[in-house]
Amino acid sequence: MKLIAFAGSSSIHSINKQFVTYVGEKAVTDMSAELELLDLNDYDIPLYSIDKEKRGEVPPEVHTFIAKLKQADGIIISLAEHNGSYTVVFKNLMDWASRIELGFFQGVPMLLLSTSPGGFGGGNVMEAALARLPKFQAQIVAHFSLPKFGENFDQEKGILDAALHSEFDKKYSLFRDAFGN
Ligand SMILES: Cc1cc2nc3c(=O)[nH]c(=O)nc-3n(C[C@H](O)[C@H](O)[C@H](O)COP(=O)(O)O)c2cc1C
Repeated sequence: MKLIAFAGSSSIHSINKQFVTYVGEKAVTDMSAELELLDLNDYDIPLYSIDKEKRGEVPPEVHTFIAKLKQADGIIISLAEHNGSYTVVFKNLMDWASRIELGFFQGVPMLLLSTSPGGFGGGNVMEAALARLPKFQAQIVAHFSLPKFGENFDQEKGILDAALHSEFDKKYSLFRDAFGN
């Protein structure tokens, strides 16, 4: 079973990358999954414009991204929030991908995460993604937002707060269940 995981961020110090890496590696152990972590810095492509599209200037990375998703049996994403919404790098990649293949998330089970230094944990971008990603054939089987990343997360121990840890475990179990694991 292959999982594709990535953070919706291009920051080299991305907290969402730390979080999604932790969850992805947990899945490798618990579900005997093979994990491929994508880095959206590899998809830092020209801004979408319909004129570029009409001129046939679709960046090759868009096809690479969709091809990667086609290999996935499951997808884990952790979204960074910028001004209440997606980061530019993630939104831009989605805009391009949606023009090539609307169902680019392929209908495989998805665990959708977000985190931020603030108390809402990226809840606004989560809300936007829950409404929109299913239109791209994202089968979101569970979602979880981790607030106050700096206080609540440790790379070795994972989620420190007991109540949040328990909530996360429930969501993670739903994702595992989607594979009969
Ligand atoms: C332009 C910009 C806008 C931001 N807007 C929000 C926001 O609306 N909500 C929020 O919780 N954090 C916001 N932040 C803080 C980010 O959550 C924080 O930078 C976080 O580390 C981003 O995730 P990442 O490290 O995975 O890239 C913003 C940061 C930047 C640079």
